[in-house]
Amino acid sequence: MTTLKVVVLGAGYVGLVTGLCLAKLGHYVEIADVQAARIERLCRGEAPFYEPGLQELLGECLAAGTVRFSHGLRYRLDAEVALIAVGTPALPNGAADVSAVFTATSELAELLPKGSIIAIKSTVPIGTARKIREVLRRSKRSDLGVASVPEFLREGSALHDVFNPSRTVIGLDDERWRDILLELHEGLNAPCVITNTVTAEMIKYASNAFLATKISFINEIANVCARVGADVSQVAAAMGLDPRIGPHFLQAGLGYGGSCFPKDTRALTTMADELGYEFLLLKAVVEVNSRQRRLPLSFIEETLGTLDGKIVALLGVSFKPNTDDVRESPALDLYKAFRERGAHVRLCDPVVKTVYPFLEEDVRVEGDPYVVLSGAHAAVLVTEWHQFIELDWARAVRSMQQPIIFDGRNALDADELARQGAIVANVGRLVGVFA
Ligand code: UGA
Repeated sequence: MTTLKVVVLGAGYVGLVTGLCLAKLGHYVEIADVQAARIERLCRGEAPFYEPGLQELLGECLAAGTVRFSHGLRYRLDAEVALIAVGTPALPNGAADVSAVFTATSELAELLPKGSIIAIKSTVPIGTARKIREVLRRSKRSDLGVASVPEFLREGSALHDVFNPSRTVIGLDDERWRDILLELHEGLNAPCVITNTVTAEMIKYASNAFLATKISFINEIANVCARVGADVSQVAAAMGLDPRIGPHFLQAGLGYGGSCFPKDTRALTTMADELGYEFLLLKAVVEVNSRQRRLPLSFIEETLGTLDGKIVALLGVSFKPNTDDVRESPALDLYKAFRERGAHVRLCDPVVKTVYPFLEEDVRVEGDPYVVLSGAHAAVLVTEWHQFIELDWARAVRSMQQPIIFDGRNALDADELARQGAIVANVGRLVGVFA
């Protein structure tokens, strides 16, 4: 395998995990970030966020001497490949803010040796790679290549996904850098799609939009199931047996959250709007997703009569299990909605320690579910952490003032909870009836 010298700009999920993966594959990698505190932690060998296996991989790569961290680019000024993996957060109109991508480009234009390639891993609006080429041309750096190499990793299984990708997508408008990009991905056994940069950028948005569509679709089916007395879990399982449909991303629940689907679906509809095309389907997907999050609210309010002064326990704060990421988590919306109606809300999560700055600084996150459930009038399972699924629910139900439980992920044994005396609801699934 050819060993390459690589710099990665951005030590977030994508940059850090991809950089460490490349270091593990044998490349020499420098990972740079503008957050000095994050870099200090990484230099000490401390993973800056919770991701299974990350701490160990970091230690391994530091010990092998194949990775270095820097606040601003310092070491790898001889890089052959520069990966841009900085954040592209949403602007108020839904479009992605690419200012950090262009700042990174300007820095690289000053530092990179002749003939290197800048490969964009961040999710960027379609056409960004071509704009970057134009910036480089104006800075008299047309010798640098530009590629789009979108990332498909999921939080919570990021290491597995990076080492076992379903595909590698390489977008290039100039064939000269084809071989070096193939060398970069050499250790990964995955089908490789080589295309132009615009198509590669679209592949990323289309993939996330399609997955989000599957989720909103099954949630709509679930809501109809609830009205006709059908069981959405069985519907999804049977649908998934058709290979044209497939079993994945058909888990009904409180909808999608996280830093990707909400942002990317809105960015794609905004992009289409700006081009004079209304992406009706995707707009509905977004709408369905925000409506879905509020399901527990109406159920609990109707069952209790009022939420004023009632204690509601939210089990799960991260947007999905195995991560401490709370960005666009349904728990944050539910917290605000229950509070607006006068309820006291208790938050519980096995790894999330704080919800600041997404909620006020003094909002506490408890680690022990028995503590938050004790004396509560109602509970919502927001995130399907195994710690919650495996609770001693008989004990938990006994400790509640009123055992009203909304299973927002269809992960609990609803019939068993009902036998324990709880009033249970979930998303489009039957309770107490053999379907
Ligand atoms: C997603 C994509 O799955 C990755 O391929 C992509 O690289 C990433 O976005 C990105 O663009 O960076 P991620 O947001 O980490 O990854 O998490 P997912 O596992 O896709 O889950 C997203 C949300 O959908 C979660 O809130 C999850 O609870 C929800 N979901 C997922 C469902 O409600 N039902 C399902 O059947 C599956």
